[in-house]
Amino acid sequence: MTGVREPGAVSATRGRRQVPLPRLADPAAPLLVVEDLAVRFSLPSGSVKAVDGVSFRLDDGEALGIAGESGCGKTTTALSLVRLLPANGRIRSGSVKLFGIDLVPKTEKQLARYRWREISIVFQGAMNALNPVRRVGDQIAEPIEVRLGRSRDASRKRAAELLDLVGIPGQRASAYPHELSGGMRQRAMIAMALACDPAIVIGDEPTTALDVMVQAQILQLLERLRRELGLSLILITHDLSVIAETCDRVMVMYAGKVAEEGPVTRVFTAPRHPYTQKLLSSFPNIHADRRTLDVIPGQPPDLRNPPPGCRFAARCPFVMDVCREVVPPEVTFGDGVRVACHLYPGRDAAGPPPRVVGATRTCDAASSTDPAP
Ligand SMILES: Nc1ncnc2c1ncn2[C@@H]1O[C@H](COP(=O)(O)OP(=O)(O)OP(=O)(O)O)[C@@H](O)[C@H]1O
Ligand code: SF4
Ligand SMILES: [Mg+2]
Repeated sequence: MTGVREPGAVSATRGRRQVPLPRLADPAAPLLVVEDLAVRFSLPSGSVKAVDGVSFRLDDGEALGIAGESGCGKTTTALSLVRLLPANGRIRSGSVKLFGIDLVPKTEKQLARYRWREISIVFQGAMNALNPVRRVGDQIAEPIEVRLGRSRDASRKRAAELLDLVGIPGQRASAYPHELSGGMRQRAMIAMALACDPAIVIGDEPTTALDVMVQAQILQLLERLRRELGLSLILITHDLSVIAETCDRVMVMYAGKVAEEGPVTRVFTAPRHPYTQKLLSSFPNIHADRRTLDVIPGQPPDLRNPPPGCRFAARCPFVMDVCREVVPPEVTFGDGVRVACHLYPGRDAAGPPPRVVGATRTCDAASSTDPAP
């Protein structure tokens, strides 16, 4: 893939990516480092602390899955990366460094260089966002023409190539959205997300509205694109098996905070945080009797007024006095797993993870060969 070089851009490229890095990029910096991100939504009834002190890193070619119950801040975290938050949302603090460039203080105009060109998003049900009265190829060609400044002919040619890349014959570029199946429309949205050769593609529940077979095809497509184009992926999904199959690392969020983060093989085989354990044991497994699935009693807290200590305290089977008063600090273990829980007060506490009382089963990924710590 080739990109248009902007005036003054450094000529450095990374990995398989052929597009020059942004002018201000540090070629030696990690791809994406998010530090202590806090996002608030203003409501007449109060301020919603939707994301509170979230940190993570994404490397070149890596796939990070973000999991957690509804309302835990997955979408808000993703939208913050390119500041596509709703009008009442605001990044209160923290940094989002792409190639070492902090995007948080950028103006809207400056962000245009990064949004879609470096980080693009495929939303849940995005296929319905296609304009019904415009040909699919023209919709994909538009960002190439507008953002990369290519000629109309070159943009259309590139749009047809992108459609081919996602498994839609290029000649279908002249089709209207209603002439394509749901799976093909979602592929077209992925082609649109790839239009400007981004370094990172975020999929926010990108397959939720599709049937299982098409879901599998779309996930295979994302996996192939990651390999062939050297893309990095952030995949947000409630489906833990998708993360187990597709991602290198997983970040489990609870009530706006990171509960646990690390390599999928470690987190899914030996979850340390009680919430991760509960989440895994409540996830359906094709081999399991669905009547025996664990449930997590209670509800996540109201984020307008979260509890002062651990946000999971009211639902946690291991809760201690300290949990209700002190926010648990993050502890990073030798195997690269980061956990925020008072059960692990320091690095030396890396004993075997506690088992959740009443857990009836573990998820698919728990049968991996990776040994428990
Ligand atoms: N525009 C908004 N105004 C006020 N609160 C909001 C707004 N958008 C999201 N929230 C709140 O922020 C919190 C995080 O929401 P978010 O959509 O990021 O969660 P999520 O993990 O993506 O959930 P889901 O799995 O349902 O998509 C929730 O408490 C939600 O109610
Ligand atoms: S900090 Fe306490 S309440 Fe929170 S998950 Fe750990 S043990 Fe449970
Ligand atoms: Mg969401």
